[in-house]
Amino acid sequence: MTVIEGKKILLGVSGGVGAFKACELLRLFVKAGAHVRVVLTKAAKEFVSPLSFRALGAESVSVDMFDEKRESLEHVSWADWADLLVIAPATANIIGKVANGIADEILSTQVIAYDGPILVAPAMNVKMYNNQAVQRNIAYLRATGIRVIGPETGQLASLITAAGRMMEPEIIFARCRQMLLGRNELSGKKVVVTAGPTQEPLDPVRYLSNQSSGKMGFALADAAAAFGGEVVLISGPVSLSPPAGAELVSVRTAAEMQKELGRHCRGADYLYMAAAVADFTPAGYYKQKIRRSDKRTKIDIKPVPDLLKSLGRNRPKHVIGFALETENLEARAIEKMRSKKIDMIVANNPTEKGVEFGSDYNRITIFSIGGKKLAFDPLPKFDVAINIIEHSLRLKKRRGPKRRR
Ligand code: CTP
Repeated sequence: MTVIEGKKILLGVSGGVGAFKACELLRLFVKAGAHVRVVLTKAAKEFVSPLSFRALGAESVSVDMFDEKRESLEHVSWADWADLLVIAPATANIIGKVANGIADEILSTQVIAYDGPILVAPAMNVKMYNNQAVQRNIAYLRATGIRVIGPETGQLASLITAAGRMMEPEIIFARCRQMLLGRNELSGKKVVVTAGPTQEPLDPVRYLSNQSSGKMGFALADAAAAFGGEVVLISGPVSLSPPAGAELVSVRTAAEMQKELGRHCRGADYLYMAAAVADFTPAGYYKQKIRRSDKRTKIDIKPVPDLLKSLGRNRPKHVIGFALETENLEARAIEKMRSKKIDMIVANNPTEKGVEFGSDYNRITIFSIGGKKLAFDPLPKFDVAINIIEHSLRLKKRRGPKRRR
């Protein structure tokens, strides 16, 4: 079971140009296995047709309080049904109604009948956003426990760049996941995550690297932020969008990753070392492209330092390593955990069908100090990340190297 799978989401859409982005948000929920019902205000209907939401996988779409086909108590039954209510985009109008308990159309009526968690994503013109009454209403929503996300600064419908644009659907989705997860054990903790491959340049056009997609490390950073952590994600070259709530530090080589680890691990509570660090680097760098006509048939390589072993004084309180094994998974993973002196190791075999490099799924086995072993079924990487974090939260503090005073 994943965090979103099977959850019941009531998606309220009010009338603004950002309404088309609600379709994208719906798609993200549906893709993750949620059940979604959509409630559109009359104004929202002017921007996006109910049919678009139905076509994108909404189980039902409600637009009119007085539609004959609608059950008379739908506003109450839908509100009872939902695990989470999201209003995206939320106009000044719907925010005003929610803040003042007005229920004069379908969406505001649903909100009043609902007593679960609510997320509101405001979107409006900057002058409307800065209006005192709107600011007071937003502050009131926050004070009553309603979560507000955004708006962000960007190009508005009027083409000026200012605050008022609805947060991107991916970021709203991540916040919803966090709200549904309902965890905060990493709150106040500093977490470092590494991800992706490293690239070791040979000449201006070639490098040594590996097939890591970075997805596992990004999912870990995303999940650690969802647990409330203050997350720094140090990543090699990947083509993924940065996870919401994590500071992304991009590096290329193992040496650069080592340097950033030195900077960010000092005082950190957890390090999740998911990066597939290159094991070798070319012994020399050729300033000019090596030509085929050079007839070179051998390249000298040298091992790169083991980054986990060289953490030294900057070693965080808990260090979680990863083991990529194609054979003898258990024995090799345990051996790596011992030799790298880490508290827990997450092993996986990328040659297994369905969880190959680049897959959105992973099948892991966790080994921790004391000989504990925990094997999981294949799961989406975000859910794998949650299992890893949950397990690491149970680790006892290992005595680290003595610090000089
Ligand atoms: N790792 C590291 N520094 C390296 C190589 C790996 O810190 N130069 C880390 C990885 O990020 C991972 C763990 O060590 O958390 C195990 O990585 P893996 O590639 O499975 O093992 P290696 O140590 O590289 O050993 P081998 O290649 O022999 O399997």
